[in-house]
Amino acid sequence: MVLEREDFNINSIIRQTASTFEGRCKDKMIGIELALTGKSMYVNADKTRIQQVIYNLVDNAIKFSHNNSVIKIETTEKHGKLFVSVKDSGIGIPKESIGMVFDRFYKTDISRGKDKKGTGLGLSITREIIRAHGENINVISTEGVGTEFIFSLALSKEDDDDIDENDDI
Ligand SMILES: Nc1ncnc2c1ncn2[C@@H]1O[C@H](COP(=O)(O)OP(=O)(O)O)[C@@H](O)[C@H]1O
Ligand SMILES: [Mg+2]
Repeated sequence: MVLEREDFNINSIIRQTASTFEGRCKDKMIGIELALTGKSMYVNADKTRIQQVIYNLVDNAIKFSHNNSVIKIETTEKHGKLFVSVKDSGIGIPKESIGMVFDRFYKTDISRGKDKKGTGLGLSITREIIRAHGENINVISTEGVGTEFIFSLALSKEDDDDIDENDDI
């Protein structure tokens, strides 16, 4: 996979991506709560691919959430990295399936019944993108309680002050 790395503000990409789901959130009465560190937070990554990763994770979170629930997107700076978490209170993933959700075409039995459209490719592409960056993605889930996906990103080496903030929202 060829990456086009650049420094960009992950906060504005998260806000932008979350706003594209407004319609679907309204339909299911789902709220997206953002807990982002800093006004802006610069990472070094392929912006388009990372946007796709966030899109895939939020898309799943909405798909597998109950009506009237909240999805939380949180960023944390730790050990010189930026961690992005997408957490829902949806159907969760059965213990026996957790090791397979990143496999190509894998869908749990419940989701196969509920959602006929999904191909089961989103998470395998998502992990491929994160691994191409030399980073990691993990999942924590309890069936019937909810699911959290967390991935890491490299922080930009530049000082925030030196970066053009024109793309901030
Ligand atoms: N947030 C989530 N909550 C519950 N199950 C999930 C969640 N995200 C992914 N899964 C499970 O992992 C499977 C694979 O996800 P994905 O690769 O995105 O495929 P798709 O969205 O096309 O079903 C899903 O079909 C579902 O069974
Ligand atoms: Mg998906």
